[in-house]
Amino acid sequence: MNITVFLGAPGSGKGTQAKKLSSSGKFIHLSTGDILRNAIKEGTPLGKEAKVFMDKGELVPDSTMIGLIEATLKNLSGLEHIILDGFPRTVPQAEALDAKETTKVKKAIFFQIPDSVLVDRLTGRRLCRNCSQPYHIKHMPPKKAGHCDLCSGEIYQRSDDQEDVVVRRLEVFNSQNQGLVDYYSQKNKLQNLIAHGSPEDIQKSLIQALN
Ligand code: AP5
Repeated sequence: MNITVFLGAPGSGKGTQAKKLSSSGKFIHLSTGDILRNAIKEGTPLGKEAKVFMDKGELVPDSTMIGLIEATLKNLSGLEHIILDGFPRTVPQAEALDAKETTKVKKAIFFQIPDSVLVDRLTGRRLCRNCSQPYHIKHMPPKKAGHCDLCSGEIYQRSDDQEDVVVRRLEVFNSQNQGLVDYYSQKNKLQNLIAHGSPEDIQKSLIQALN
């Protein structure tokens, strides 16, 4: 299994770029945030557990997340190039992936972006309720207000994109990220990506980084 992980702050553009890449058909995009939001929508036990943490901007416990990602990866054939977006978030999560030969991470791409732009990106973000395509009220609005360009689904705002929760998510990110950067840097797997600028330019740099 060829696994690349995307590291970066909430709002750094991981989901936007991963969705663009997966539309080429060459990559499978797995977002733990999307999996958890679907579980919440379906009212599963996982969704009920995750909601308590997500609404506060806290991380879902490692034991739950490691079990979830192991179960998700087990369903794949092993030949795919997988982009993991939102996992790992902690060093124990990174270690769990590397503990199995089949799920060892090949590359970690760190989306670098100044903190000052993140609150605006997150509080202005909107998503398609059906396919999770991200939009932004100012920078990337849908062509038809309230409807997804790709599937015409309803556009909504994530409950954790309210400013007070955004602030907590950024604190949580800053408390965990250096450990992950050090982890992948020591293994010579870390690649930095300048993640501000136009989405098209970032995609070009990302494709270079992936090659
Ligand atoms: P998750 O869904 O993973 O959220 P996140 O990491 O906080 O990341 P975001 O989705 O907020 O940001 P993004 O980098 O994908 O940005 P996007 O491309 O959308 O996790 C949510 C919660 O789930 C966590 O808080 C936690 O509780 C739980 N969770 C998930 N995984 C977990 C794990 N492994 N362990 C424990 N708990 C876990 O872009 C943001 C906005 O900016 C959009 O509006 C977009 O249109 C806009 N934008 C993007 N690129 C550009 C650009 N170049 N220029 C201008 N605007 C742009």
